[in-house]
Amino acid sequence: MTNQLSLAQGREYLAIPGPSVMPDAVLQAMHRPSPNIYEGELIEMMPALTRDLCRVARTEHNVAIYIANGHGTWEAALSNVIAPGETVLAPASGRFTHGWAEMAEGIGAQAEVIDFGMSSHWDMDRIAAALSADINHKIKALLAVHVDTSSSIRNDIPALRALLDDLGHPALLMADCIASLGCDRFEMDAWGVDVTVTACQKGLMTPPGMGFVFFNEKAQAKRAAMPRVSQYWDWQPRANPDLFYQYFDGTAPTHHLYGLRAALDLIQAEGIEHVWARHERLAHAIWAACDIWSQGGALHFNVADPTHRSHAVTALRLTEGRGTPLRKYAEHSLGLTLGIGLGMEDWDGCFRLGHMGHVNAQMTMAMLGGVETAMAGLDIPRGQGALEAAASILAQ
Ligand SMILES: Cc1ncc(COP(=O)(O)O)c(C=O)c1O
Repeated sequence: MTNQLSLAQGREYLAIPGPSVMPDAVLQAMHRPSPNIYEGELIEMMPALTRDLCRVARTEHNVAIYIANGHGTWEAALSNVIAPGETVLAPASGRFTHGWAEMAEGIGAQAEVIDFGMSSHWDMDRIAAALSADINHKIKALLAVHVDTSSSIRNDIPALRALLDDLGHPALLMADCIASLGCDRFEMDAWGVDVTVTACQKGLMTPPGMGFVFFNEKAQAKRAAMPRVSQYWDWQPRANPDLFYQYFDGTAPTHHLYGLRAALDLIQAEGIEHVWARHERLAHAIWAACDIWSQGGALHFNVADPTHRSHAVTALRLTEGRGTPLRKYAEHSLGLTLGIGLGMEDWDGCFRLGHMGHVNAQMTMAMLGGVETAMAGLDIPRGQGALEAAASILAQ
């Protein structure tokens, strides 16, 4: 027993950009004994599960499921279409693009990175220049991170497709929508994406541990021309299994599948367009509060232009390295966990708000109230009326 009063007692709230809040329906679906993995319900639920996953990614093509996190899907996707010695182009607006490019190098590819820094979205002219200079079409794929969670920048995937088409460049368009699927609008087929990678622990609201690679015929043609693909990463049997175990190349992630089924049911009941609209409205409320706080001169958005901000994560900067103290105050004194300044040069001066997946208006107001309280507790200068500004957006 401690003699100190703690206002952190009670249900804590995790407002980091993944893993996200898990809905009770997901937790309850997983709270069950191990199922038979050779016959019955688990096997029978797979066709509808893969169909519904494809619906969320807005594709009529294929999906391969991996027992892996997002890093695993990066390697899985690359392993199917990029042979050692081939080149990929990675336009980077955050830490995760660099990570994917490093993964490409790890499998023996050459990665050309165009670095836009931590606060700028893609500059299409620079990407166009790199593609135009590639007259022999050495570049086999673009590694395009839709929302880079470290910076909270949202990039324009359709514009990248348009650029490839205008230049007649045949590179595959590979998109990472790990932080955007089920949060921000993402439309694989309509946007002309050839390979999409994502994972289950953000907009899909399921515990970390499953990853998905979606691919179309153009990507499959490249896969078919590969000299070799490691058996475990090979997407062919996973997407077209003759036998149940081929979905996973071994034992199925039984409870994750039940959790994912429940999460997909929630998304379907709400409707994906409404899921996107909810995230957008909540993001605008958060930004309205941040706009007011920033009047005090200490808080700044990492991404100045709202049209290039993610609707699922917001990266913020605080002067005098006060991001880490704010996070610690919020966690230890209030029971609110905020995201770290991942990949930022000024790590301690940054923090991130996660607002992805199973999040509603009252959770958003509680998170903002926590940030306001932490700023008050640390005496951080800020404009007044931030919560009122957020409330008026939510009340519209
Ligand atoms: C955009 C993006 N790509 C890749 C990853 C890596 O995923 P994981 O941490 O599941 O390996 C993350 C994780 O946050 C991410 O946000």
